[in-house]
Amino acid sequence: MTDVYVGSGLLERLPSILRSKRRRATLVTDSALAGTLGRRLAAAFRKAGWEAPLFVLPRGETAKSLASVARLWDFLLKTGHERRDPVVALGGGTVGDAAGFAAATWMRGVPLVQVPTTLLAQADSCLGGKTAVNLPGAKNAVGAFHQPDAAVADVGTLKTLPERDYRSGLAEVVKYGLVLDAAFARELDRRWGLLERRESAALSWAVGRSLRLKAGIVAEDERDFSGRRELLNFGHTLGHALESASDYRVRHGEAVAFGMRAAVLLSGPLKEAALIERLLDRLPFPSLAGIRGKALFRLLARDKKARGGVPVFVLLQGLARPLRTQTVDERQVLAVLAALGVKP
Ligand SMILES: NC(=O)c1ccc[n+]([C@@H]2O[C@H](COP(=O)([O-])OP(=O)(O)OC[C@H]3O[C@@H](n4cnc5c(N)ncnc54)[C@H](O)[C@@H]3O)[C@@H](O)[C@H]2O)c1
Repeated sequence: MTDVYVGSGLLERLPSILRSKRRRATLVTDSALAGTLGRRLAAAFRKAGWEAPLFVLPRGETAKSLASVARLWDFLLKTGHERRDPVVALGGGTVGDAAGFAAATWMRGVPLVQVPTTLLAQADSCLGGKTAVNLPGAKNAVGAFHQPDAAVADVGTLKTLPERDYRSGLAEVVKYGLVLDAAFARELDRRWGLLERRESAALSWAVGRSLRLKAGIVAEDERDFSGRRELLNFGHTLGHALESASDYRVRHGEAVAFGMRAAVLLSGPLKEAALIERLLDRLPFPSLAGIRGKALFRLLARDKKARGGVPVFVLLQGLARPLRTQTVDERQVLAVLAALGVKP
């Protein structure tokens, strides 16, 4: 079980939250955050009497490479990271995935603490234990399940997140409402203005609720086998294909927002269509320059979850009433893509 903390001002309190007698940890962040949040976190650990060396990964997907993780393994070796010492991942989903993979593999697994600093990482990727690195042309190809001991989401850190990353993260929050919790979706609609202004209480509520929903699903299907966890793939089948077809120019959340729009269209008429469309319309719409429907479909057919080359989607039969693993044929997919402005 992962201990989850959500609120503002948690960064400085992290050493006391971790309660360790040995007071030894390795902090991992990326090059964009090292001088700001990284420095703040390192100072908090120093002040609390911890020995906590800081390792800096490159920013973005480059962090999620075997070469970056190998450098981190070397650092753990040189600094004497022992089996009970936690690896503390401070940053977005890329830092969480790469540092998580290092924690999963170093000495066959050491404790992991996720300290997410993007909205996507706070509301989604910090929980669930999926860690991974990419191979050239194959995202998340090598990885391990490794549940964090704690996830500490300080919503105050989101203040400096660039607008594009922030709005992209809202897509995962909306996903939890649309797939799992109708009351949450309605409340998101009501509190949207506060969320757009990054108001702390609204953010703590939205992140906390998303993580509770995710924790419930992960507890039932930790290793993504029984199919329950597949519901969280709503919008992701097409989303992953779009990310890859755009060479990752389209952000994860933007691609998921697009994928959710397509899934709603594929679902047919829905009773709560007005609310669903209002929420989706507030999410960013990605640039589709250079994207072709047939190429997207080819990527979909190669997706990890495709069945005999036929892509599988999570669709809706209503608000928070998901239908999992629906196969959809090429003609239907191309029609929906055309409706969303993708050339054939
Ligand atoms: N493990 C999972 O369950 C899971 C789930 C979803 C996505 N992911 C992975 O997450 C990654 C995407 O994560 P992301 O969207 O957080 O991107 P990211 O980690 O690349 O962060 C985006 C950018 O924001 C910067 N940043 C982070 N926090 C900041 C802050 N508070 N202020 C200012 N700048 C800040 C980062 O330095 C980076 O340049 C992808 O690799 C995806 O595969 C993993």
